[in-house]
Amino acid sequence: MTELQIETTTLWDFPKQNYGTTPHGNNKYRGVTPAFVIWNLLQRYTVEGDLVIDPMCGSGTTIDVAKELKRRVIGYDLNIVRDDIIKNDSRIIPLENDSVDFVFIDSPYSDNLHYSDDERCIGKISCENIIFYNEMEKVAVEIRRILKPSKVIAWIIADQWIKKKFTAVGFLLWERLVKYFEPIDIVCLTRHNQTSNTSFWHRKACEYNFYLRGFKYLFIMRKREKT
Ligand SMILES: C[S@@+](CC[C@H](N)C(=O)[O-])C[C@H]1O[C@@H](n2cnc3c(N)ncnc32)[C@H](O)[C@@H]1O
Repeated sequence: MTELQIETTTLWDFPKQNYGTTPHGNNKYRGVTPAFVIWNLLQRYTVEGDLVIDPMCGSGTTIDVAKELKRRVIGYDLNIVRDDIIKNDSRIIPLENDSVDFVFIDSPYSDNLHYSDDERCIGKISCENIIFYNEMEKVAVEIRRILKPSKVIAWIIADQWIKKKFTAVGFLLWERLVKYFEPIDIVCLTRHNQTSNTSFWHRKACEYNFYLRGFKYLFIMRKREKT
């Protein structure tokens, strides 16, 4: 494997979901995270033996990257696609207070993707509805509870433009997260391989004067001691 480089700016652009020769997660999973995002975060904010948690781990990208880097890891989700993922609603995480070294989460951004038929899936709630942020806040409270003092969380989210309406999902979630976590930085992740990246949609974007989503936010934050 060629030597992997740690990102040094706040603009990360990974054209492929995977790196190296072995799979990390499943690039066919809807909303799969680019594995190199998690690799970069684990390099900076964890060391070997640390406990890493992904409360919405989907196809298990975090599990694969963390294991490769010799971190201990637990992945939860409601949609179970492999044996090493534990079925759990992330609004209640079955772990002790102050027991985790790092949390990565790439949550649903709205109700645009169908992940499972489980009614508890937050991806069934539109980001235009305040309930979406209320439920995400419950997840944030749990993550803060399980993180050790001053440890770090990284959360991916994206805005929505649909039916002529823009929703600043990133800013709305950020408002909730800053109650529980201190900002470290915000990284802009270039979006690739999305269904709207076709000449049809690029033409529509010009014709009807709107923009296709080009990036996601990666919020990097530290547990607040007091809320
Ligand atoms: C963007 S995907 C995560 C992708 C994952 N990082 C990967 O690389 O495959 C979001 C995930 O959140 C899960 N999810 C939604 N609501 C949940 C909840 N209340 N508890 C746990 N997982 C949930 C969905 O099932 C979905 O797998």
